[in-house]
Amino acid sequence: MTLFRLDASIRPEGSVSRDVADTVQSAWMRNHPDDTVVRRDLTADPLPSDAWMSAASATGVPEEERTPEQRSALELAATLADEVLAGDAAVIASPLYNFGVSQHLKTWIDLLITDPRFGPGAQPLAGRPLTVVMARGGGYGEGTPREGWDHATPYLRRIFADAFGADVTVVVAELTLADVVPAMAELRPIAAESRAEAHKLAEATGRAHAERVRSATRSTSAA
Ligand SMILES: Cc1cc2nc3c(=O)[nH]c(=O)nc-3n(C[C@H](O)[C@H](O)[C@H](O)COP(=O)(O)O)c2cc1C
Repeated sequence: MTLFRLDASIRPEGSVSRDVADTVQSAWMRNHPDDTVVRRDLTADPLPSDAWMSAASATGVPEEERTPEQRSALELAATLADEVLAGDAAVIASPLYNFGVSQHLKTWIDLLITDPRFGPGAQPLAGRPLTVVMARGGGYGEGTPREGWDHATPYLRRIFADAFGADVTVVVAELTLADVVPAMAELRPIAAESRAEAHKLAEATGRAHAERVRSATRSTSAA
């Protein structure tokens, strides 16, 4: 079986979203030691920012009339779609940047949607377990001044659960900037608690997803 993992943090080292996603992946691999992990790292391998424009403008253009840019953008979209569809489960690790998702994660999602398998109403990930790991520097909990300012988490839930049909679990680690911003120093204990809780949920989610996929496979082979 295969786990698909996407990372969007611009920090190759010291990233909280990568660290928590590692916990999901390790929990999965303990249950499925021989599995493959298909990875897409948007920082190690950034997507061209004009690819979406080329792919989207190819809609309705007959194959033989497409420009070379349109053809290569559609091929890239198909590769991204193949990678996600290869996963029996998925982990999407995203930081909160400027109250939303990064442009490179948005580009990845927009490109995916240009592939006919991910088009409107397609539900290509129907029933597949998917973990969204969100790392955010500030605090956005209920009753805090910035409640409702995190536009990334609801957006990712909308895309993966509602548009793509996946069974989504969200794992959040917040106040990650408390360790480096002196003005947030008094929030460090709450930040540490949030990170510990995130790892705990990540571990439980990775294990539950692995067990669920394993028993679904067993019932399919028994049928
Ligand atoms: C360019 C940039 C923009 C950011 N914008 C926000 C923001 O709007 N809200 C917030 O709470 N944290 C913000 N942060 C902090 C990150 O969310 C935080 O550092 C998070 O831990 C990053 O994920 P990572 O640890 O996986 O790299 C921003 C960080 C950077 C570098």
